[in-house]
Amino acid sequence: MSTSRPPARRAAELRRLLEAHNHEYYVLDAPTVSDAEYDRLFRELQALEQQHPDLLVPDSPTQRVGGSAASQFAPVRHAVPMQSLNNCFNEDELRDFDRRVREGLGVEMVDYVAEPKLDGLAISLTYERGVFTRGATRGDGETGEDITANLRTVRSIPLRLGGEPPKLIEVRGEVYMPVAGFAQLNREQEKAGGKTFANPRNAAAGSLRQLDPKITASRPLAFAGYATAHREGWTPPATHMDVLDQLKRWGVPVSAYAEKVRGPEGCLKYFQKIGARRAKLPFQIDGVVYKLNALAGREELGSVSRAPRWAIAHKFPAEEAETICEAVEFQVSRTGALTPVARLKPVFVGGANVSNAGLHNMDEVARKDVRAGDTVVIRRAGDVIPELVRVVVEKRPRGAKPVETPSRCPACGGRAEREEGELVAYCTNKLGCVTQIQASLSHFVGRHAMNVEGLGEKLLTTLVERKLVRTPADIYRLDVPVLAELERMGEKSAANVIDAIVHSRRTTLERFLLALGIPDVGEATARDLARHFGDLEPLVEAARADLPTAHAEKARDRCPRLQEVPDVGPTVAVHIAHFFAEPGNLAVIRELREAGVQWEPVKRAASAGPLLGKTFVITGTLPGLGREQATELIESHGGRISGSVSKKTDFLLAGSDAGSKLAKAGKLGVPVIELAQLQKMIAGKK
Ligand code: IVH
Repeated sequence: MSTSRPPARRAAELRRLLEAHNHEYYVLDAPTVSDAEYDRLFRELQALEQQHPDLLVPDSPTQRVGGSAASQFAPVRHAVPMQSLNNCFNEDELRDFDRRVREGLGVEMVDYVAEPKLDGLAISLTYERGVFTRGATRGDGETGEDITANLRTVRSIPLRLGGEPPKLIEVRGEVYMPVAGFAQLNREQEKAGGKTFANPRNAAAGSLRQLDPKITASRPLAFAGYATAHREGWTPPATHMDVLDQLKRWGVPVSAYAEKVRGPEGCLKYFQKIGARRAKLPFQIDGVVYKLNALAGREELGSVSRAPRWAIAHKFPAEEAETICEAVEFQVSRTGALTPVARLKPVFVGGANVSNAGLHNMDEVARKDVRAGDTVVIRRAGDVIPELVRVVVEKRPRGAKPVETPSRCPACGGRAEREEGELVAYCTNKLGCVTQIQASLSHFVGRHAMNVEGLGEKLLTTLVERKLVRTPADIYRLDVPVLAELERMGEKSAANVIDAIVHSRRTTLERFLLALGIPDVGEATARDLARHFGDLEPLVEAARADLPTAHAEKARDRCPRLQEVPDVGPTVAVHIAHFFAEPGNLAVIRELREAGVQWEPVKRAASAGPLLGKTFVITGTLPGLGREQATELIESHGGRISGSVSKKTDFLLAGSDAGSKLAKAGKLGVPVIELAQLQKMIAGKK
């Protein structure tokens, strides 16, 4: 060893050595030096950096102990959205997935790569010229949080890529906590009187969300990469297996269990094999992921609503446990529905403590015949809401009585009624039940609805109890002096809330429709309604015109105008028609608009035109027309755009450099047209 060399060179050499030893230890599980030797090199580098602070770089191994604490995480917009996976739970669903893939690609047999589905958190790591510069959480898939400082402390994440890294590469993978480390952490937490974690996933999440990276550094986290995303100066190889190999060459750990498998049979065999080893694996998994091996096919298949068509998670069956149902109580929802809930003796199942299980409606209560005192089987899988599977009737205590439909609202004491054909009873005290009003207002101001920040549950309850707010329109009549009068509300916070209220008036039709709280109208339906009708008036008109048919005998004859909206079935259509027939609802809508609530009309999906009913796929470069313009041209003449070629495609609009989609259209016999032909079709000439 020579310490007489220029400090900069020595520091660089030490960093390289330490990272190499780190990789051997944490990734390859095959150290080549003793801990003492590692420590000695480490301390030498630390000393050098102390003497020459200019030599300290963020990717120095000494920085893995964690830098200074942050006050919050900055948002990071993902260059390529971070998608999630669709799930399947059995062989049939897996075969359906495989069939869709084969049909989408027009092939007979498909190679997949099967990997364990690690139970941790999806993470994005950006390397610029091989240096780790940014790490982010998935967040909502579009925007995550910058947790670079924390990720630097995860030993198996390389701070610098080996081999010949490209100008820019984003690596994606999972941060998780191995079970041994998890057990040890909980023992330590318990000893120190700190909080213990329910499962390794929560522990990993909690550790990564620390504002102080020193805490993260003390947690036994690990990383496994499974994809690349944004890139510059690098062309991905042909297959996923090659991507994993490339990641390995860069020094990124990847699952040692990834395997190429053939067709659904290969997938199922792998699933059995991993399932049998599950309990002995050093990390927790909740299933297996199958991914199309050929990357070109992935592009061809594309995605549906944030999940790729080319991959699926095959989940292990949900865990079950027995416990006691202590009572069946009723919760008041924003519509006044009294929904039964089983209150349970807390039980640990599927990685969490469960003390409630929703029972949905009285039919379900009757079908399962749940009674207070019963021993019940609870099922819960990962993030899924716990479910009461069945009652162990043999263990029923004597005298346990069946649950009755409540005659009083448990929240306000008002009369509860169950109409014929309804599955639950409703609190009839619509205008006086504080819980009910509060719940509907809470929905109205929610993030995906009117998005009024600062108007939280507590404040809403106070406002409703003091009779300051009853309908959504009342919210827009509040002012600073009124709010400032309330307990724990200064001028400043009152002004902030009013600001947020004023701000929320500019909204979109979609948000407004969601905010109204029409039964069964969630985000997707609100969006479809907005796109179909373009504005509120045509929707209200259609609803009015449809009202007389709301009780038609055949479901498909009910509310035909509303059922024209994609994905709107008879039940939702009838709810919509009833909602807009209620004078009280129309009055609130009028008041809201008078208070300044407004939106831009939505560009409607054309319901007429020469291309009506035809589905187009676009590929290649069109002469003088961008993708968006081409889409707009087709949609404005009644056509539909789809992302991938299938048997349902009517035309493939192809420009120059058309690739796999062209070949696929050829295989499926889908007619291929050029822009000039499209223009002729629009002009009405064939
Ligand atoms: S691939 C577009 N591979 O599962 C697909 N995900 O439900 C990107 N996960 O958010 C994910 N192990 O956090 C992939 N081997 C694996 C995985 C895996 C765990 C997680 C990941 C993702 C979630 C999707």
